Amino acid sequence: MTDLLSKFDPVIELREGLLESGMTDPFNLVMEKVESPTVAICNGKRTILLGTYNYMGMTFDPDVIAAGKRALDEFGSGTTGSRVLNGTYSGHRACEEALKDFYAMDHAMVFSTGYQANLGIISTLAGKDDYIVLDIDSHASIYDGCALGNAQIVPFRHNDIDALEKRLKRIPEGAGKLVVLEGVYSMLGDIAPLREMVAVSKAAGAMVLVDEAHSMGFIGEHGRGVAEAQGIIDDVDFIIGTFSKSVGTVGGFCVSNHPKFEILRLVCRPYVFTASLPPSVVATAATSIRKLANSADKRAHLWENSKRLHAGLRQLGFTLGTGEPQSAIIAVIMPNLETGAAMWEALLNEGLYVNLARPPATPANMTLLRCSLCALHSEDQVGEILGMFAAAGRATGCID
Ligand SMILES: Cc1ncc(COP(=O)(O)O)c(C=O)c1O
Repeated sequence: MTDLLSKFDPVIELREGLLESGMTDPFNLVMEKVESPTVAICNGKRTILLGTYNYMGMTFDPDVIAAGKRALDEFGSGTTGSRVLNGTYSGHRACEEALKDFYAMDHAMVFSTGYQANLGIISTLAGKDDYIVLDIDSHASIYDGCALGNAQIVPFRHNDIDALEKRLKRIPEGAGKLVVLEGVYSMLGDIAPLREMVAVSKAAGAMVLVDEAHSMGFIGEHGRGVAEAQGIIDDVDFIIGTFSKSVGTVGGFCVSNHPKFEILRLVCRPYVFTASLPPSVVATAATSIRKLANSADKRAHLWENSKRLHAGLRQLGFTLGTGEPQSAIIAVIMPNLETGAAMWEALLNEGLYVNLARPPATPANMTLLRCSLCALHSEDQVGEILGMFAAAGRATGCID
């Protein structure tokens, strides 16, 4: 028998090597109690959360929780069915209405996760004879969507407008073309030059899909994302998003003004062949989305937090993923995996949780400590976080 798991031996060795040194497994943390969007108990200790993508802090919003409880009582714990059979309740429709209002768009389709939204929409739009031109640093769900549809994949250098234009020019005349971009790239927290990229794509006759997973709720006047902030949202054909970040629950969606959009409900396999979200989840999502539309104060505070943390970390001597804060993600670049893991553990011992990100998820083989800020982090908490980075950085030799 060939052991089909043998191909993972290098990963097993790498992991065991790290754990043999006695360090805490960075990919096996348990939150014993979650007190608020910014504080949990981990290993019996109060821990500030700085790696949850809970950008707008909606997970403990009293209206959101009440809506979920009500739906649980009135509609039960789950739908046990596909959206196209018995799995569409009034709550799913209400959630899609909330999304249409939020984005001011004609159509919205809710999926069970953001991963499935990318998988479904990309694979259904672009098939074997079509071309998908995408940023090389695209999220795994985008690549998996391309693979599922079996389209020709044409990657271009991260955020490089000229490279995008050149790739588009090489595609045979008349072929179907989909350009896939992200508003915020989650590894380094940088934003895309969407205005230029969408213009170049449209000039080449391509349709454009933008994944705004990390910008919804926060970036843009109404929180619609980077496409809104750069004034080109009406030129984007499809926006993909998730409920697992600013919305504060689980689920994914696509919104669009395309007149034929509704047909996708019948032909998109990751929408049809899976159970729909539980009624409590769509009720929490709809309530959260409607509140996010009117959260300008929280957006302003989150920008303040992002600027304060970015400036403070730079002053301490850390190398960051962007020269200026561009989103609510601030990536601290570590020299290697060992130092990154040691720093991650030292921060946890100080009482701070951040994400440790490593290849192959990261660009250019980088090891990153990814910090994602929340609108509910107080000014004092950001000060506390900087104190913890200073102590852990000195203890591990990352800074002087
Ligand atoms: C850019 C991007 N798209 C899609 C997803 C998938 O979202 P979900 O967690 O809802 O599956 C993520 C999640 O990490 C993401 O970062």
